[in-house]
Amino acid sequence: MSGPDLVDSVAALRARIRDWRRDGLRVAMVPTMGALHEGHLSLIRIAREKAERCVVSIFVNPTQFAPSEDLDKYPRQLARDLDMLATVKADLAFTPTVGAMYPAGFATKISVGGPSAGLESDFRPTFFEGVATVVAKLFLQATPDYAVFGEKDYQQLCVVRQLCHDLDLPIEIIGAPTIRDAQGLAMSSRNAYLGEAELQTARQLNLILRRTAAALVSGVHRDDATGEASRALIAAGFQTVDYVEARESLTLAPWRRDRAGRLLAAAWLGKTRLIDNVEIPTS
Ligand code: PAF
Repeated sequence: MSGPDLVDSVAALRARIRDWRRDGLRVAMVPTMGALHEGHLSLIRIAREKAERCVVSIFVNPTQFAPSEDLDKYPRQLARDLDMLATVKADLAFTPTVGAMYPAGFATKISVGGPSAGLESDFRPTFFEGVATVVAKLFLQATPDYAVFGEKDYQQLCVVRQLCHDLDLPIEIIGAPTIRDAQGLAMSSRNAYLGEAELQTARQLNLILRRTAAALVSGVHRDDATGEASRALIAAGFQTVDYVEARESLTLAPWRRDRAGRLLAAAWLGKTRLIDNVEIPTS
C-alpha cells in the first residue's frame, strides 16, 4: 500500500495543486495536527468523496496553545500518521515546519467574532485566534475547493465557517459527524493521555450530554438541565466542569426552544481536558 506524497514547503504544495488544477481536478483539504485516529480518517473519506484529490495538513500549531497547555507533550507520530493516510488513500500530506508557517517577524493574527464568543474562549482566550490564523494560512496556501472539519470541535467548525464567509473564501466547509467508540466516547488525540479508569469515566460525558439533551427536549428549563449535567459530571468522576451550555446550532447564540440546538461541554479528567457536544433535536 503506497502512502501519500509528502511536501513540507508551501512552494511544493502550490506546485502540486497547480498540476491538479491544470488537469481539472478538484481539491479537498483536511487540516489536522496529526496523531491521527479513526475520526480523522472519517474526515478524509468524506474529502475523497467530494473531490478528486485530497490533501491532509499535519501541523501542531503553536499559536493555538496557551503557555500552560500541552504543546510540548502533544503526540507527534508522523510515520504512523503516514501509514494511516495510506489506508484511506490521501493523495498528499503537507507537513510544514513551525519556521515555515511562522517565520521570524510574523505579525498577523486573525480574530473571528460571532461564534467564537464564550464556551472555549472563556477558558482558552487566544485559542480561536490561533486556529483562525493557521486555518486561513492553510486555505491560502492550498486553495482547496472543500475543507472537512469534525463536529467534535463544534465551536471551531462554526468559527471556520464564519471565517470563510467573512473573508469571501470560496471554500465549502463540510462538518463531519463525530466518530465514537462503542461506548460513546468521542475519538480525540488527547484520549491517549487517559488511563483505563479515566477512559471509563470519560465515556460518561457523552451519556450525560445525551440525557441532558433529552431533558431539554422534554421541557426542562435550560439552566436547570445544564446545572444538573454539571453535577452529574462531577459525580461521575470529572474534577472540574468548564461549561455545559445549550446553544443555537448555527450562530451559537443561547439556545431557544424553537431553534435547532447543540449542547456543548468541556470538563477535566485529571490533567486532560475533554470536550464533546450533541444535537438538541427540535421538539
Ligand atoms: O482541529 C484541529 O486539529 C486544529 O485545531 C486545526 C483545525 C488543524 C488547526 O490547527
